[in-house]
Amino acid sequence: MSVKVVVIGSNGLLGQTLVNKLFNRTDYKLYAMASGENRNSKAQELTYFEINIAYFKTIKLQLNLIEPDFIINALAMTNVDACETEKEECDLINVKFVEKLAHISLELGTHLIHISTDFIFDGIEGLYGETAIPNPVNYYGLSKLKSEEAIQNILDKYTILRTILVYGKVANMKRSNIVLWVKKSLEKGETIRIVDDQYRMPTYVGSLAEACLLVMKEKAMGIYHISDRELLSIYEIAIQIASFYNLPKALIEPIHTTELKQKAKRPPKTGFILKKAIVELGLRPLSFNEGLSLFQKEM
Ligand SMILES: NC(=O)c1ccc[n+]([C@@H]2O[C@H](COP(=O)([O-])OP(=O)(O)OC[C@H]3O[C@@H](n4cnc5c(N)ncnc54)[C@H](OP(=O)(O)O)[C@@H]3O)[C@@H](O)[C@H]2O)c1
Repeated sequence: MSVKVVVIGSNGLLGQTLVNKLFNRTDYKLYAMASGENRNSKAQELTYFEINIAYFKTIKLQLNLIEPDFIINALAMTNVDACETEKEECDLINVKFVEKLAHISLELGTHLIHISTDFIFDGIEGLYGETAIPNPVNYYGLSKLKSEEAIQNILDKYTILRTILVYGKVANMKRSNIVLWVKKSLEKGETIRIVDDQYRMPTYVGSLAEACLLVMKEKAMGIYHISDRELLSIYEIAIQIASFYNLPKALIEPIHTTELKQKAKRPPKTGFILKKAIVELGLRPLSFNEGLSLFQKEM
């Protein structure tokens, strides 16, 4: 019998990537949920439900009918600066909605897989292991930490996958990411200013989606740090993107974070210790260059 999995937020970068990986697998019965029309390139073949998170009763009704083995929550307010200025909306999407998903998962005996972030940490003493003490420096990070706490308080059958600076490409994207933005700007001959004092482990969305599949396969529970394996400054990331696509590096100007005047503070250096996911899930983290190569191949 196939495993029933509901991907919530199936129009986003991770959501669509998951759908693309799962939709023709015979061992999974896939259901996709997102707001608005189905933007996935596999739109015709998908069992898709349009949802409005303000009407949770309808979502609950659908989940009751499906009785999923797994729910993967890829839905979130991911614009860090918008979360800082629109805190109420951020709470509704990133915390309250997750709380409701945890409650319905408890009622149905469903295993909830939720995605969190390196931004729950302050970035002072990265790399971080799963048991490091969170201390978010912005509202997005705080909201994601609250979502983790809600799940842990309500559920036993859960997995929280924290990840970092995700890149990739799916159909009809609403949001860009570091790789697409740097590539597009350099292709247009635009000068870009990039911070050289923030460090991240950039993660190919395919790696994160694979980790979700590994969690389902292993029925792994608890918190896992999931990213690719190379810690780089954002400036170094941009330089590697330029090298990879053979674009002019001279257009990349290094700057300091203070010059950006962003609404939300950013943690200076995150990055994860990945041992738990490697040992327990069989995760195989990529170098940034391997990630870019796989991205190009899978495009
Ligand atoms: N991207 C990163 O760098 C990164 C880093 C760390 C952690 N994460 C986490 O990874 C997860 C997946 O993120 P992603 O990169 O796939 O982000 P994404 O592309 O922005 O996807 C998020 C999805 O949530 C949907 N959404 C937001 N508000 C909604 C609402 N009120 N009602 C219905 N849908 C709503 C968006 O819908 P629309 O497409 O219609 O706007 C979008 O499809 C998130 O939990 C995020 O916090 C991401």
